[in-house]
Amino acid sequence: MATNRTFTMIKPDAVDAGHIGAIIKMIEEAGFRIVAIKKTQLTGERAGQFYAVHRERPFYNDLRTYMSSGAIVPMILEKENAVADFRKLIGATNPAQAEEGTIRKLYAKSIEANAIHGSDSDENAEIEGNFFFAATELY
Ligand code: GTP
Ligand code: MG
Repeated sequence: MATNRTFTMIKPDAVDAGHIGAIIKMIEEAGFRIVAIKKTQLTGERAGQFYAVHRERPFYNDLRTYMSSGAIVPMILEKENAVADFRKLIGATNPAQAEEGTIRKLYAKSIEANAIHGSDSDENAEIEGNFFFAATELY
């Protein structure tokens, strides 16, 4: 089951710009089923924990501030080959390099405010899903 799931969150810039509906439409039309979803906001501390793997990077403090600056919409998604297919749907980290038709190409503002997150492995998808959702919130 875990191999068919990924974790995503619509980031503060896209929530703030009113793109929640458009992004979810693209996700569902690409064949992903929403297993869990909510609207919430990270504290600076929780944002730092979520992106702890980047703690040595020069942009870490900015990333923490940005990711806690507004509401986000975390989701657990299900589909065959979910992690890789979802990374394809969102496009490159830097929207300037993202392919046409990807979520980041359409909605991201910058390399930092890039509209959406996608897990990079099955293992991280499970860890990140558990970061936001209890087992009783998955359907
Ligand atoms: P996520 O799906 O959010 O994990 O993005 P990613 O896997 O495409 O990129 P990565 O994990 O390398 O970076 C995590 C996040 O840090 C990115 O999505 C950006 O929001 C931010 N980020 C990455 N590189 C830079 C950078 O060079 N400058 C700044 N300011 N932010 C960056
Ligand atoms: Mg990443």
